[in-house]
Amino acid sequence: MSYPHRHLLAIEGLYPPAIQHLLDLAENYVSLNRTGKTQRDLLRGRTLINLFFEDSTRTRTSFELAGKRLGADVINMSVASSSVNKGETLLDTAATLNAMHCDLLVVRHGQSGAANLLAQKVGACVINAGDGAHEHPTQALLDALTIRRHKGKLQGLQIAICGDVAHSRVARSNIHLLSAMGARVRVVGPPTLIPGPITRLGVEVSYDMREGLAGADIVMMLRLQRERMSSGLIPSAREYFRFWGLDHEKLAFAKPDALVMHPGPMNRGVEIDSAVADDPVRSLIAEQVEMGVAVRMAVLDTLARNGARHD
Ligand code: NCD
Repeated sequence: MSYPHRHLLAIEGLYPPAIQHLLDLAENYVSLNRTGKTQRDLLRGRTLINLFFEDSTRTRTSFELAGKRLGADVINMSVASSSVNKGETLLDTAATLNAMHCDLLVVRHGQSGAANLLAQKVGACVINAGDGAHEHPTQALLDALTIRRHKGKLQGLQIAICGDVAHSRVARSNIHLLSAMGARVRVVGPPTLIPGPITRLGVEVSYDMREGLAGADIVMMLRLQRERMSSGLIPSAREYFRFWGLDHEKLAFAKPDALVMHPGPMNRGVEIDSAVADDPVRSLIAEQVEMGVAVRMAVLDTLARNGARHD
């Protein structure tokens, strides 16, 4: 079995063939989606619950669309309308979900490890849609698919991941995936937003955009996650943009054909200039969203075949 797991909780620990399998399958779904065809038999009669304890627009809608395109019954549960506000614990929520015979559970939570905990307690296949600053595996998969389609490979590419690395589950999942697939990853940003132990993941660190972007094939910008900062780690948004914000002037430090990515939502004028974000030649940001649906279809398809229950 090329993806021998019941859940997708993290990229860390996945072997390259498992990653390859999901990317190749997602590639098929990109073609299928572009022709407008659907495969509604695949998850017919299965229940997919989107359990979101944190706000999300694109990830939730992307999973919803992916589930519906494969024929699943999709239910969205968000924290604002859930009984967690009435004091229910995560494990009580798990018991409720079990009683509903949920087959596939997509979970986003502010606490690292929440998806792992649920996976131990529910009968459903669990997909981590972001847990604290830990991991966001489907984002890394969609980023890898986007890169592979433009550069033809991942192996040997130079990828610069820039900005608020400290709070970013996107950065962590991408570092694991890209390193496993043979790319070279560099993290670039202010020292206050780059945790020292990150070098244990095998990445190079640079505190300077000119040095950090030199020779990069891909420049991946991260959102400044002010909601996760307990105190001011940056002087001001204006100063941040001056030193770390990606504009065409800084992009010129990278390779002439370097492409720009951002997981969204973007703080325009803070970590990225609109002229770069909307540049049709250099920016892959809109395409990342399209790839997100295909990747999530591939993940749901794979997990449903591997282990969703049939009762
Ligand atoms: C990311 C997330 O939630 O981790 N966004 C996303 O999934 N599209 C990144 C972010 O919020 O900055």
